[in-house]
Amino acid sequence: MQTSEPNYEVPVLAITHWTKELFSFSLRRPKSFRFSAGEFVMLGLNTGEGHQILRAYSMASPTWSDALLFYSINIKNGPLTSRLSKIKPSDGVILKRKSTGTLILDALRPGKRLFLFSTGTGFAPFASIIREPETYQKFDKIIVTHTCREIPDLAFSQMVLSQREHDGLLSKSDIASLEYYPTVTRDKPTNDIKLGRITDLILTEKFFKDLNIENLFSASDRVMLCGSQSFNRQMKDILIKRGFLEGSINAPGDFVLEKAFVGG
Ligand code: A2P
Repeated sequence: MQTSEPNYEVPVLAITHWTKELFSFSLRRPKSFRFSAGEFVMLGLNTGEGHQILRAYSMASPTWSDALLFYSINIKNGPLTSRLSKIKPSDGVILKRKSTGTLILDALRPGKRLFLFSTGTGFAPFASIIREPETYQKFDKIIVTHTCREIPDLAFSQMVLSQREHDGLLSKSDIASLEYYPTVTRDKPTNDIKLGRITDLILTEKFFKDLNIENLFSASDRVMLCGSQSFNRQMKDILIKRGFLEGSINAPGDFVLEKAFVGG
């Protein structure tokens, strides 16, 4: 339903193509546009026939930034993503006024370790969360995983991880308290990039051995999931078997999840 306030139309600042199918773009953030790290917004383009195509996109930038960063897949002939992949600086993008979503810190009970598990473009909300100082105030240790098919698909998350160190907002100990665990399923692993689906690496416990950390423990660990439907389902199952309770904004819990938005 249309809200009474009109949507924003904001200029593109930059676009980066990471692979043939993955790109990110930044928009100038309207001063009145506020969001919580991990949320998404509807955005899109005017198609020229008086129509707009809008899809859900997670903000991949921190809340303090003047630019809004988004991470997208380019679906061949997808009505929006194939058009968005061709935008250029100063083109206009339509942005709804209100953001929403469940992958926010307030939907989790207090805890010691925060696990952020993602596949594909599901990394986007975590790109925001790991650059927020509040995340490091709330948790002693943060572990972010990203599973993709091939090594080049990890380029965006690798960039965000290094950007985090140059933001100047996190202390040395904050920076050291995060572990990044990238994995690929259809490529050769390296020393830093492991082989396999994160679900399997959890079940075999290789994930915990690689990082030299304790297994998941519902009393003090909190978890966010963002990936494909089957990934979310399988991870949820793993967590529920370990006694984790799903949370929401109204009833904070031990884990929250959101499907990565990739349609169209
Ligand atoms: P796989 O290559 O074994 O399918 P996609 O590109 O299809 O969105 O997938 C992104 C990554 O997520 C791929 O590495 C894929 O592994 C992995 N993946 C897909 N489904 C699941 C699942 N149910 N559990 C864990 N990882 C998954």
